[in-house]
Amino acid sequence: MSMPRKFDNPENYFESVVDFLSSYSWVYRRANTECLVSIDSMPQDFKNYFLAVSNEMLNEFPFFHENFDAFPASLLIFRKELARLTPEETFENIFLEATGRQPISKLRIPKKKQHEIKHFATHINANCLEAQIVVDLGSGLGYLSQALYELNKNYLILGLEADKTRVETARNRCRQCLPPAATKSISYEQKFVDANSGVYIDKHSLELAKNNGCLEVKNMSIIGLHACADLSINAMRLFLKMDRVKSIHIIPCCYHKLALQFDCGGTDNTDQNNFVNFPLSIALRKAVNACKRELYLNRPFLRLACQQTRARWRRTSCEEHAEHGCRMYMRALADSVRYSNELVKPRKRSLPDHENHSSFWELVKRFQLFSKNTGTPMEWQPIHRERFQEISEKYTDRQGPRLAEGLQCMQTAMQKLCENVILFDRLCYLQEAAAEHKVHVRVRYEQLLDEKVSPRCHVLVAEKLS
Ligand SMILES: C[S@@+](CC[C@H](N)C(=O)[O-])C[C@H]1O[C@@H](n2cnc3c(N)ncnc32)[C@H](O)[C@@H]1O
Repeated sequence: MSMPRKFDNPENYFESVVDFLSSYSWVYRRANTECLVSIDSMPQDFKNYFLAVSNEMLNEFPFFHENFDAFPASLLIFRKELARLTPEETFENIFLEATGRQPISKLRIPKKKQHEIKHFATHINANCLEAQIVVDLGSGLGYLSQALYELNKNYLILGLEADKTRVETARNRCRQCLPPAATKSISYEQKFVDANSGVYIDKHSLELAKNNGCLEVKNMSIIGLHACADLSINAMRLFLKMDRVKSIHIIPCCYHKLALQFDCGGTDNTDQNNFVNFPLSIALRKAVNACKRELYLNRPFLRLACQQTRARWRRTSCEEHAEHGCRMYMRALADSVRYSNELVKPRKRSLPDHENHSSFWELVKRFQLFSKNTGTPMEWQPIHRERFQEISEKYTDRQGPRLAEGLQCMQTAMQKLCENVILFDRLCYLQEAAAEHKVHVRVRYEQLLDEKVSPRCHVLVAEKLS
């Protein structure tokens, strides 16, 4: 995740990206439960295209670096601009196997997690050998720290985790799965980490070092596997502030959970949100402030950035597209007939989604209505049916789901760019903050995981240079 080679500085890059995002905000501005509003805003030539497109072409659409032919003019412009702004990654198809052993497996670990810890532990072991202490932020159930210990028994690992139950599980796993000596080398503490946790981390690291006969700690690394939301940003701040920390290796995730600036009057509505930690860099902030048109870097934008990547899209069958389109369309229909003091949630499905989807009774069968205030289930009323009929007159049975899937296709095409904006913004911020603190750093992203298995697959690596 970086800047495409054609751009020579982040400000110019972000300026072009912001311009593009404001032109196509109808694709991502609304949550998909409100996709009828997005479909209404879809230009007619895009609608015509998605109503007629073959499954093969639909599957190829998000791969804009590969094929420019056979698209109507406006879609061609969209794809060419995406190709110009989205860094071309070569990793998608040539995924390299990690050389490390399989991680500990005395207690069952899901396949996705096995893939992540195997590759990340191998990366840490190749890059952090000089670290006397490794601080694992958001250590969860302890999978990563335990796999790291398995690779190299010399590591001293401090795992910090906000959730008490997870800390206890991690301690138990350590006792059950690793040799007794590991309980001395790995310490799990319950701690909600923020940018001011440096003193706490220093204190607990020094204690851990002392317990293992090491009286001086000069070299530490901060690591984190899927350090969600603001945690990965605070980890970067800790890296800059703490002299002993020489490197950081962090894989971020859950951008959509970033904290809002409630203190500054921000709200969690879907149109405009002010986040504490996005945008972060001066470069992106400048571009956003200079944008003359409406721009929506809101919660749905962040959610799009952390959707599945396009890697899996290519193999989607006709039936899968039809089923997904129906589900998305019906969900949005249910959402648009409810009143603002009501909620809808899917019931257990009884039929495949693409069968007989368009009657009001089908909607009633699939979705339960609730009161927003009390959470109690409510009955659907004749007024809901009237609203349903009004709304569903706009699109036929076939058109609604196809357009919903067309919208999903546009989102899949834009996902990488949206994620790049977030990740590259962080990289720029780290460089800007390092320059301000007069710390000499080298920063990069590496794609470490197979995105078909684990879509949040980039590790931010930063090292202090002496
Ligand atoms: C997506 S999970 C990843 C867990 C673990 N690293 C793994 O890969 O198995 C993120 C973890 O970070 C923890 N977490 C989130 N924010 C945190 C914070 N500010 N301080 C400490 N832990 C936090 C969550 O409780 C959760 O266990």
